[in-house]
Formats: sequence, structure tokens, C-alpha cells
Amino acid sequence: MLIKRPSDNPSSDITPKDIYLNRRQFIAGAAVAGAAAVTGLGLREVAEPSLVAEANAKIDGLQKSPFSSTEKQTPYKDVSNYNNFYEFSTDKYEPAGLAKNFKPRPWTVTIDGLVKKKQELDVDAILKMAAPEERIYRHRCVEGWSIVVPWIGFSLSELIKRAEPLGKAKFVEFTTLYDPKQMPGQRVPVLKWPYVEGLRMDEAMHPLALLCFGMYGEILPNQNGAPLRITIPWKYGFKSAKAIVRIRFTEGQPMNSWQLSASNEYGFYSNVNPNVDHPRWSQAKERRLGEFLKRPTLMFNGYDQVAGLYSGMDLKKNF
Ligand code: MTE
Repeated sequence: MLIKRPSDNPSSDITPKDIYLNRRQFIAGAAVAGAAAVTGLGLREVAEPSLVAEANAKIDGLQKSPFSSTEKQTPYKDVSNYNNFYEFSTDKYEPAGLAKNFKPRPWTVTIDGLVKKKQELDVDAILKMAAPEERIYRHRCVEGWSIVVPWIGFSLSELIKRAEPLGKAKFVEFTTLYDPKQMPGQRVPVLKWPYVEGLRMDEAMHPLALLCFGMYGEILPNQNGAPLRITIPWKYGFKSAKAIVRIRFTEGQPMNSWQLSASNEYGFYSNVNPNVDHPRWSQAKERRLGEFLKRPTLMFNGYDQVAGLYSGMDLKKNF
């Protein structure tokens, strides 16, 4: 990663920025999905509630998740002001300001590759595919810092099932928007644009893999990946691609942006693993944003339920 050294600034270094926009009620799609189930109508045929899905709009009707951590949550101001989002800047304090005028709507997501139902979906139709859940996840960045965030979304498997992948589809690739006019970081070749990430199909189908569109009870702010990102809590943060415009199903293992930039440092799997050091620093410990002392990093970031996905694999080779 084009990162000079593990960054572990205490949260007191984080400059709070006043990024709060108008807060308006966002009527989530749970009711619509429920109505579709009862009436047997397709989701598109059910009358839609008025959506005001703008940054910081409140999301009602959140379901609790059994996957949620009970750990202390990282303050919102830290999670929304200390971001890795290279499309805007390589400086973690800059995306919050630089993404202020980014337009996450209208927005379509292309679903293609090895699926029966190739389609272009409006992002708000995706938001209505399942009831939104709050999932409080630990999130570990490869650089050595971590956060605990109440993300909002539903399992990525909900979308994948609806696309009906073909038997040959073994991987899923996620692509971020390429729009250098809106994303000033893309005017500089720090990464090969657009940003791409990939998961093996069974990883993508694991219930923990989250298709995410909100956090802290609200629609995602732009710097955290609006309008749609993934959040994969047992992998280093860079696997969690933001601002997704394309989801493609493939037979071969897709490359990801960090692998393309430094394949000796970043592999495809990128599971959180305290036993495999990054070539330039140890991964044994991490620092929660806002805390002073480091804590041990846990295998799979503590999400032991995914261990079975990797049984029989050498995780030192498949880092
Ligand atoms: N997605 C895109 N498109 N571009 C990025 O630079 N950075 C990744 C990931 N997803 C990144 C991205 C990295 S390195 C991390 S740690 C997380 O986003 C940070 O997410 P957060 O800012 O919401 O904490």
C-alpha cells in the first residue's frame, strides 16, 4: 500500500469537521420488501415510499443483528473524518472535505459476468431488497488501526441470490466509480483506477459479508463509501470497496487494486492474521482509534465463524 508507515494517530489528532448535512427522515425499505413478500409482487412493482437517501438521512426500522459486537463504538466523528479513500486523497483527513460535493445519486450498479440476471439496478432498488440491519462490526485496517462501527445494510448474499450466478461463477469482483471530475485523487496514478476488489463466492455468500449503505443510524456519508459499499469484517479494511458501480461474477480470481500496486505486500485473501506480518510492519497488534494502548489483533479479526472457509489452506501463502 502506498502508505509510508503504519498510521496510529490517537483520535485526539483527528480534526472534527462539521460535515453534518440536513437530517431528514429516510423511510427504509423494510416495509416495501415485506409488502412484496405478502403480495407476491416483484419489488419493482410495489409502490415505493418516498426515499430521501441523502448523506446523514436517518434510517428507520433497523433490525438488530446477532453478529453485532458489544464493544465500545468508535465515535462517529472519528469514523467519518479519518478515512482511507484514495479516490479523494491519500491523506486520511482530507476525504471528508473533498467528498462533500460528491453525488451519490442518481446511481446505478451493473450486475454482470457469469449470472443469469445481468442487469443495471438503481441503488435505491438495491436498498429495498432486504430489511436493513444494524451490524456493529470490528473493522481492522491493514495499517494497524481499528474501529468499531454500527454499519447498516444486509447480507451481500441477498443481492447475489437475486442475480442467480451460474455454476461457473467462482468469484465476485467489485468496481468503484471512475470519475476524476468528482474524485480528485483519480487524477493522480497512485493506484490503477478504477479501484477493484474481489471475494471468492463462498466468502461473498457468508452471512457476515455486508452490503452496506449506512452507519450510526444514518445513510453513509460520502467519505465512507456512499451510496453502496461492502464491509467484510474478517478481512483487512481495504477489501471493503466503497462507492460500488459494478458487481461482476467471474470464473477466475480477480486482481484487486492493492495487489496490482504491490503484490508482495497485498494478497487476494487479506484475512486479518496476527501471524502473518506485512513485509514492512507487524500485524500482531492494533490500535483502536481514540485509544492509547495497543491491543492484540485476533485471527480473522475475532470472527471465528469464517475459519471453515479456509480449512486446508496455507494462510501464510494465501495471505
Ligand atoms: N474503497 C475505495 N474505492 N477506495 C479506497 O481507497 N480504501 C480501503 C477501503 N475501501 C478504499 C476503499 C481501505 S484501505 C480502508 S481501511 C477502508 O476502505 C476504510 O473505510 P472507512 O473510511 O469507511 O473506515
